Amino acid sequence: MSEKTAERVLIFDTTLRDGEQSPGCSMNRQEKLALARQLAALGVDIIEAGFPIASEGDLESVKAISLAVREPVICALSRTSRGDIEHALEALDPAARPRVHVFIATSDLHLEHKLRMTREQVIEEVDRAVRSARAHVDDVEFSAEDATRSDWDYLVEVFDVAVAAGASTLNVPDTVGYTTPSEYFDLIQFLKRHVQGADDVIFSLHCHDDLGLAVANSLAAIRAGARQVECTVNGIGERAGNTAMEEVVMALKTRPDTFGGLDTGIVTTEIWPTSRLLSSITGVPVQPNKAIVGENAFAHEAGIHQDGVLKNTLTYEIMTPQSIGRASNELVLGKHSGRHALSERLGELGFDVSGDAFERVFRRFKALADAKKTIFNEDLEALVGDSVTTPEERFSIGDISITSGTVGKPSATVEMQIDGVSRKQTALGVGPVDALFRAVAELTDTKSELIRYQVHAVTAGLDALGEVSVTVDEDGRRVIGHGAHEDVLVASGKAYVHAINRLEWHKGRRGANEPRGI
Ligand code: KIV
Ligand code: ZN
Repeated sequence: MSEKTAERVLIFDTTLRDGEQSPGCSMNRQEKLALARQLAALGVDIIEAGFPIASEGDLESVKAISLAVREPVICALSRTSRGDIEHALEALDPAARPRVHVFIATSDLHLEHKLRMTREQVIEEVDRAVRSARAHVDDVEFSAEDATRSDWDYLVEVFDVAVAAGASTLNVPDTVGYTTPSEYFDLIQFLKRHVQGADDVIFSLHCHDDLGLAVANSLAAIRAGARQVECTVNGIGERAGNTAMEEVVMALKTRPDTFGGLDTGIVTTEIWPTSRLLSSITGVPVQPNKAIVGENAFAHEAGIHQDGVLKNTLTYEIMTPQSIGRASNELVLGKHSGRHALSERLGELGFDVSGDAFERVFRRFKALADAKKTIFNEDLEALVGDSVTTPEERFSIGDISITSGTVGKPSATVEMQIDGVSRKQTALGVGPVDALFRAVAELTDTKSELIRYQVHAVTAGLDALGEVSVTVDEDGRRVIGHGAHEDVLVASGKAYVHAINRLEWHKGRRGANEPRGI
């Protein structure tokens, strides 16, 4: 192994092969090509582009990627059979740097029940298959499937044969996600000590996440001397998934003290764009609390945390969102947020609120946060408006009577106070909410467009308080209104009128000098 590789951990990305085996994650050729290009921009060393014998589509995808993506090594998976190897070679024909990845199982369980072969027969297969791939390409990887449940001495024999036949990378898959960090560490060390020619080959790890240990196992293998990580973007993959590329890469980068300063060639600022691209291609979202690339990975809600991060991000952040290509950390305002976070956000929104005015906004903010999980910027604008400048609302809603059902068109009769004068209006609609909103719009003579309508139960149970949020837009000014009531239709009316009052407030403010000082 060269000096350079000894200090470097190679990133072997199998998102397009093992990752694609994840339910719901299959991709067509164009999508695979787009992702492969992004993986090259991310700086992965090897792209496992597919399993060409599996389908014509897989073969064509590997071919297309081999043609278009020239920098990383392009790898194709193959069992030991002749047909598999021929398909892999055909698919890799246009590749600038082709690798054939040959695998066969080595655990007695697989030999007896799946392959129905003896240990000796498997060794012959390995020898023949690696030699035949090696006759066509210089770069051959060999994987001992289910290595972590295989007999260690037998594994050494198999790997000896693979090295003698010309394999330059030996992969030790934890196919069923069974191993533990200390066991995997010991196994890699054992193999490195006993396989003949171990110093001239690269040991590779390949972990699955059935016990949630894939990343921990991968890091243990690296500490034991493995220098290739097989992983996927967002950790997608068969069953519980594979080692998440972004987690291993950022662990190595964040803890050089623990991992001896080993680095990867990954351009970490491309991690976030790559994760988003994959999710948008597959339509499979990343869980919000996923390390590194989850929506909440850099979001702080607790007041003490927000205060600390605003003073110095190192207080609660071990890496920056910018380092993985995200714009900034996100302080989610909610019931745990304190004065510091609120004041900071108001400042970002252009409000200069201080003294008694700020205390009023803060009290209303806390009351709203008790009823509502997340406070959005539009909510804050409303709070500032309501708390500081608009004690009087032009419109207030009074009695509401609604008829709907399977007979006839839904209708709503609404009574409102408009500039202190009581007025009443009836309107029909496609549904009761539509009828209600039409009646309010006619009474208030407003022409806003309804963008979003959401109902949440604020408390549990059949008598739950319903909270309705409506987002309306008038001439490009978008506001949110809220209303709460045990009857969701009444809550809807209140929310709509709240939004319209806020539009009125903005109309009154239009032309005022920015920043929006109070
Ligand atoms: O999990 C596994 O064993 C594999 C091999 C084909 C490397 O994916
Ligand atoms: Zn796998």
